Amino acid sequence: MHRILELYSGIGGMHCAWKESQLDGEIVLAIDINTVANEVYTYNFPETCLSNRNIQSLTAKEIEKLNVNSVLMSPPCQPFTRNGKYLDENDPRTNSFIYLIQLLSELNNIEYILMENVKGFERSTVRNLFIDSLKANGFSYQEFLLCPSKVGVPNSRLRYYCIARRSISGWHFKRKEEIITSLPHDYGLPNTLEDILQTDVQDMYLLNDKLLKRANVLDICYKHSRRSCCFTKAYTHYAEGTGSVYTEANEQQVEKCYKMANTFDVSSKHFIETLKELKLRFFTPCEVLRLMSFPQNYKFPSNVTTKQCYRLLGNSVNVKVISELLKILFD
Ligand SMILES: C[S@@+](CC[C@H](N)C(=O)[O-])C[C@H]1O[C@@H](n2cnc3c(N)ncnc32)[C@H](O)[C@@H]1O
Repeated sequence: MHRILELYSGIGGMHCAWKESQLDGEIVLAIDINTVANEVYTYNFPETCLSNRNIQSLTAKEIEKLNVNSVLMSPPCQPFTRNGKYLDENDPRTNSFIYLIQLLSELNNIEYILMENVKGFERSTVRNLFIDSLKANGFSYQEFLLCPSKVGVPNSRLRYYCIARRSISGWHFKRKEEIITSLPHDYGLPNTLEDILQTDVQDMYLLNDKLLKRANVLDICYKHSRRSCCFTKAYTHYAEGTGSVYTEANEQQVEKCYKMANTFDVSSKHFIETLKELKLRFFTPCEVLRLMSFPQNYKFPSNVTTKQCYRLLGNSVNVKVISELLKILFD
């Protein structure tokens, strides 16, 4: 039975993945400093011990006392993104992870590690520090760049993953030097979005005039679509590149309506009024949860605002991808 430490636990995507993988074990302790995320975590996992504290205050002794053999973690990714100016090890948000990398030599009980981050991490200095520390402490590791669409999920979220194991005797997985970009199993085509759509969605999810002005850059999905774009923290704030929108209309209706709207100036009332016919709307937090493969019974507490839900989801992970990686890691 595995005993797991979930670091940077957020809303518990790793916890959900552990459950989905059906491996034997328990999350012994989860740690995060975001109080809203922690409230959501506790709402869904009331029995799990969750600590609201800075990971940098954790000592090797404390970890040893927990008697854990596995660490699942998704450290902050902003230092490795354009928005975060690719500051890498110079961004203070990497401090806690660099601290953990250095602490690894004292964590003799840790046998298994799974780490998630953004695409781009693989080219960073912090990645080199992490890999050097894994090697120095006798871990065998494998890096991946994977998208949920490759495991049958109709959503894009290309992410870096690293799984590492101290003892490889009996590990069925054959590691490769290069980064792996697909999993051996054939997951088939992603399901259509119909499976995750809610009915009777409130008008509050309809796009407002400000966003409709940017209608030409929207990514539109349909009931029968087998894809959707990655949902980011800025979903519903900016139109471009923050996640897809949905319409009940079909492609022909959308094309016709856009053709008509584009006969007007994009900042005119006519442009916006014409597009309103399509009833373009955001995916609800509940739908985004499904697209990120969270279980059906996962819920946000009612006092958490919709904006907070999107922010937390934008920071979270795809549960299905991680559960597949956990099966490989513990195989
Ligand atoms: C990429 S998110 C992790 C998301 C999480 N796996 C989930 O499913 O929601 C990074 C998380 O790290 C937390 N965090 C960042 N720095 C931290 C630190 N020094 N100590 C504890 N938590 C930290 C943030 O609050 C955020 O929730």
